[in-house]
Amino acid sequence: MAEREESGRGTWGSKIAFILAAAGSAIGLGSLWRFPIMVGRMGGAVYVFAYILAVFFIGFTEMLAELAIGRHTQKNPVGAFEAIRPRSGWKYLGYAGVVTTIAILSYYAVVAGWAFGYLYKTIFGLFRNITWESSAALFNRFVANPWESLFCFLVVMGITTYIISRGVQSGIERFAKILMPLLFILMIFLAFRALTLPGASRGVAFYLKPELSKIDVKVLFFALGQAFYSLSLGMGIMITYGSYISREENLVSSAGWVCFSTTLVAFLAGIIIYPTLFATPDLTPEKFEPSLGLMFQTIPLVIAKLPGGFLFGVLFFILLQVAALTSTVSLLEVPVAFLIDEHKWARPKAALFLGGLSFLLGIPSALSVGASTALTRFGFFNKMDLIFGNILLAVGGLGVLIFLVYFWGIKPALEEIRAGCPRFSLEPLWVFNVRFLAPLAILILLIFIKTITG
Ligand code: PHE
Repeated sequence: MAEREESGRGTWGSKIAFILAAAGSAIGLGSLWRFPIMVGRMGGAVYVFAYILAVFFIGFTEMLAELAIGRHTQKNPVGAFEAIRPRSGWKYLGYAGVVTTIAILSYYAVVAGWAFGYLYKTIFGLFRNITWESSAALFNRFVANPWESLFCFLVVMGITTYIISRGVQSGIERFAKILMPLLFILMIFLAFRALTLPGASRGVAFYLKPELSKIDVKVLFFALGQAFYSLSLGMGIMITYGSYISREENLVSSAGWVCFSTTLVAFLAGIIIYPTLFATPDLTPEKFEPSLGLMFQTIPLVIAKLPGGFLFGVLFFILLQVAALTSTVSLLEVPVAFLIDEHKWARPKAALFLGGLSFLLGIPSALSVGASTALTRFGFFNKMDLIFGNILLAVGGLGVLIFLVYFWGIKPALEEIRAGCPRFSLEPLWVFNVRFLAPLAILILLIFIKTITG
């Protein structure tokens, strides 16, 4: 995050610094861990395509809308709505975003804790003689041990709180600048290994050959939810990040880059996981039931097949940890910025309070996964993910679009976007999407929510 100047706010050092920070927020466990699970749950390739369409038509539209609101007002979400429409009640949409970030952080950091646990497990010999059964059993044992998983969760929450309390996000982003491209290269490498495993083709077919009969509202709804989740939309993160961008910069190409790189990482995660999974003897797509541990159970199998697997394993889990931390940091920054800007709290106090709150809220999530890693809708973890990670992101995203179209206006929004982007060739498409396609699609999917969750 930009260093704050005397006025209390800063701007990004350069366009690339902003793209990296926003991509750092976006690329994380959402793409690497959650996307492959959703693909498994929703029956494979149809979902992959629905997700890509959701990113292109709705995610990109929404991201540009949030960045424009943020840059225009130079404020956190609550302050931003209030600045454009004072005393109108719209600020409550900002409050909803603040609550959502805390709720998502609470269980997201549990998963980031698993990444931490896998780092030391790798160092202590996780990859020795690993098979699908032993890998699955290892994950289940790990999360079923409350002390170990709570310890890992606490470590990640502690690091996140520390980074935010010192306001040193720019430090970690400097790190991420080097490590994220490295993650990307490592993933291409792993994808290549996965695709050349004997029997990989069954996984490729599951992942890339859509059976159109599988398309339904549920698939579309969760594709939309995943697009918002992976792009950090619908809760004010991109409004906050946009508030640090200067008017010379091109919001359109920045949003495009963030959407593209995030989708690519998610796509690669699936390309690694599915061929590896279905190259396992006896595991067929029909018999397969994705669990919350899918990525943790599968990645070690492909890494073990590389010469020097141990080192690749350590590297992978370090990079995964950094990807997760740049996201947990962005989740905590929104409510902290809110308390600092609107209630004049000191940064360390705000960070400690909200970090502590998220930790307490995350304990039932961590324990519920210990009881069962199945994706049932009854566990606390799964409930949090459904309510906050899908429904509230969609509601928040819809709110932002309605606000932009009817309460701010397409005209001033376009003026904001054109500053720094004189030739906005996608303009007619964006205007159509922001006015009709995106809000209607979200609304219709939300109306069907009963059939989806029932
Ligand atoms: N987009 C990030 C990720 O996918 C972090 C995030 C998660 C942001 C959920 C908002 C909601 O990992």
